[in-house]
Amino acid sequence: MQNTFDVLVLGGGAAGLSLALRLPEKLSIAVICKDVLQENSTNYAQGGIAAVLESDDSFAAHVQDTLVAGAGLCDLAAVKFTVENAPESIQWLIGLGINFTRSDDKNYHLTREGGHSHRRIIHSADSTGRDLEETLIRATKSRSNISVFENHIAIDLYKHDNHCLGAYIYNEAEDRVDAFSAGKTVIATGGASRVYLYSSNPSVTSGDGIAMGYRAGCQVANLEFNQFHPTCLYHPLAGASLITEAMRGEGAQLKLPDGTRFMPAFDERGELAPRDIVARAIDHEIKRLGIRHVWLDISHKPAEFIREHFPNIYQKCLDLGIDITREPIPVVPAAHYTCGGLKVDLNGQTGIDSLYAIGEASCTGLHGANRLASNSLLECLVFGASAARHMLASGVSRPQQPIPPWDDSRVEKAREEVLLLHNWEEIRRTMWNYVGIVRSFERLRRAKSRIDMLKVEIQDYYSRHRVNRNFIELRHLIVVAELIVEAALKRDKSVGLHYNIDCPT
Ligand code: FAD
Ligand code: SIN
Repeated sequence: MQNTFDVLVLGGGAAGLSLALRLPEKLSIAVICKDVLQENSTNYAQGGIAAVLESDDSFAAHVQDTLVAGAGLCDLAAVKFTVENAPESIQWLIGLGINFTRSDDKNYHLTREGGHSHRRIIHSADSTGRDLEETLIRATKSRSNISVFENHIAIDLYKHDNHCLGAYIYNEAEDRVDAFSAGKTVIATGGASRVYLYSSNPSVTSGDGIAMGYRAGCQVANLEFNQFHPTCLYHPLAGASLITEAMRGEGAQLKLPDGTRFMPAFDERGELAPRDIVARAIDHEIKRLGIRHVWLDISHKPAEFIREHFPNIYQKCLDLGIDITREPIPVVPAAHYTCGGLKVDLNGQTGIDSLYAIGEASCTGLHGANRLASNSLLECLVFGASAARHMLASGVSRPQQPIPPWDDSRVEKAREEVLLLHNWEEIRRTMWNYVGIVRSFERLRRAKSRIDMLKVEIQDYYSRHRVNRNFIELRHLIVVAELIVEAALKRDKSVGLHYNIDCPT
């Protein structure tokens, strides 16, 4: 089936929806999501959005904190651009009706997270992402020019003479591949943290847009810098549950099983050191003591304060039998955020004409070697707006010819799901064990040889079988795994999130 739109947006998280909403209603826009609209990382964000909102804070301080976290590898122009556009993005969300937490009738409550020299995280209690995604979805549903396609999975971009003309998309309900033609195509497919066995992310984040962009010829950058969030709930029934860094911002302490704090011995900023330092310290203590997790303790704070600031985490833990007002929370690090991605300029433009990348799938230069907490939702909003402005300025016109239909007449239906499931598990375990928080050249070389072998298997299967969701994601995942390993092998110094015991810092 053919579909033709002015703008094709792959992804319905903060990046994709804010771009769609910043475009005028005269343009027809398709938003594609591989699950239901609200299933994405945005929806699970807890801490908040960083922005300079008080007169005793400054752009210079937010820029400086971002540069320090990024360990010297940020792009200064991208950092300034994002920080300076942050207040406008927050005002835009307030205009859409978002329900940020207030400290009194006049002021919003600003919380603090690791690496920030000032309280500057605006938030909706401990479920900012849900409030944000609901606000964007409400606005999207009120716009008749935006068509949302749920349970549609992008397979590949279609390009002619370095010009992107749309994408092939698997329609899961109908079990067929549709061709979507568009004047402009936007990759807003989120990050790739599900390439690791343990992740704070929902299952949609398999790096699909990064893989599609790379296959089409886009440059990628900084993929060796995958952020591991220090504190994910350790419980067999918890799934991918984050315990927000804002809890440490409000005084929670990391402790060993005997109750002693350990972070001050690793960094003078203690629990609020940048995430790479905290995650490595936890990893170190877990391996040194042979324990399964460490403890995060906020029980010294008044119970009322805890319930008011962290209502969702309080309830989730209570449902699992942990009363965080009285006892510590078992936590471990997990893969959380992809700092690298498709290389873009300040307008979200890739090197391919009419192809943009925004949000976690992109690499704007904002994060460098490590992302400062709560700068990512901000980046989605700022670059959603700048890409929309650029599209309008450069003119949007539909392709004259629709892209050719997908041809799967020579392949058969996939029969052996077990092969795919095994490949999935193998990639994610290999990445966790060999390309995780702490790396070495030997581990990286082992990862490479396994990924090379898996790549051949997956490519061979792809050449003979019709696609399904699992298979499409697996094909994207192996590309991202390979790119991460290659980037990690090339980096000859430990910096930011890339820590190789064979390399100097
Ligand atoms: P997402 O929100 O992940 O959306 C991706 C979209 O792409 C989805 O709609 C998905 O269905 C779609 N998609 C993916 N692949 C395909 C495909 N092949 N075909 C079609 N559609 C596809 N950041 C902060 O700044 N502050 C926080 O407090 C914060 N807390 C976080 C807490 C958690 C638990 C997590 C996981 C992340 C958190 N982050 C936070 C990071 C932040 O949420 C993400 O970086 C951000 O939401 C990414 O937005 P996005 O729009 O780029 O991608
Ligand atoms: C958190 O709330 O700890 C996550 C914040 C982020 O990832 O920016």
